Amino acid sequence: MKGKLDHLAIIMDGNGRWAQMRGLERTAGHKAGAAAAIKAAECASEHGIRFLTLYCFSTENWKRPTGEVSFLMGLFSSEFRNHISEIKDKGFRVLHLGRREGLPSSVLSTIDEAVAATAGNKGLTVQLAINYGGEDELERAIRKALESGETAFDHTVISRYLDNPEVPPPDFIVRSGGEKRLSGFLLYQSSYAEIGFYDKLWPDWDENMIESIISDFHKRDRRFGGLS
Ligand code: IPE
Ligand code: IPE
Ligand code: MG
Repeated sequence: MKGKLDHLAIIMDGNGRWAQMRGLERTAGHKAGAAAAIKAAECASEHGIRFLTLYCFSTENWKRPTGEVSFLMGLFSSEFRNHISEIKDKGFRVLHLGRREGLPSSVLSTIDEAVAATAGNKGLTVQLAINYGGEDELERAIRKALESGETAFDHTVISRYLDNPEVPPPDFIVRSGGEKRLSGFLLYQSSYAEIGFYDKLWPDWDENMIESIISDFHKRDRRFGGLS
């Protein structure tokens, strides 16, 4: 069965190596990676993709040196704030995916501002996974379900308590930078996602690369346990 690519999810990896190969600080790679993310969103939208999830910062990324973590938090607050009106004008809708606790208030207020400013938009939904871990999301979902008095824990109930229950599961999860693992990304939602691993480092991804992965997706034969 050939399906539509409705939801693309990207593990944007390889920023640090991209910078180090150029004799630059790892943070320069994150800055270049942010520019690649904007291009990817524009390209996804032009190709009719309705949901784009970007893995920006994992619950494990706090283990990195303080300077790198602060730089990233700066990108998610002041840098991102500078793009809100442009994102709004493009018709994109922003959602946050991940744990709020632990994020600096400057990041939370920027995310909230972006979510509020774009809430009425009908174009591409961009889920920003910031302070995201699949295990963490599931733990929080189960806790919320228990607090709401749920007693049954079937798929429908669990799905209802995920961070953004209105977002469909990803059709295609891709990872840049060559590593072949999911690093906690969309643990529950990835059950029938197609997965693609690509060597190209994230800051080098451009429109051509996005078009090339879209064409890879359309070659896949999705059977969902049935027969083709
Ligand atoms: C991905 O790039 C961005 C984040 C995890 C925040 P990396 O920073 O992991 O880059 P590499 O994998 O070290 O090259
Ligand atoms: C995954 O990349 C997280 C993001 C891209 C935000 P990492 O670089 O943190 O993953 P590992 O440590 O190689 O698994
Ligand atoms: Mg990495």
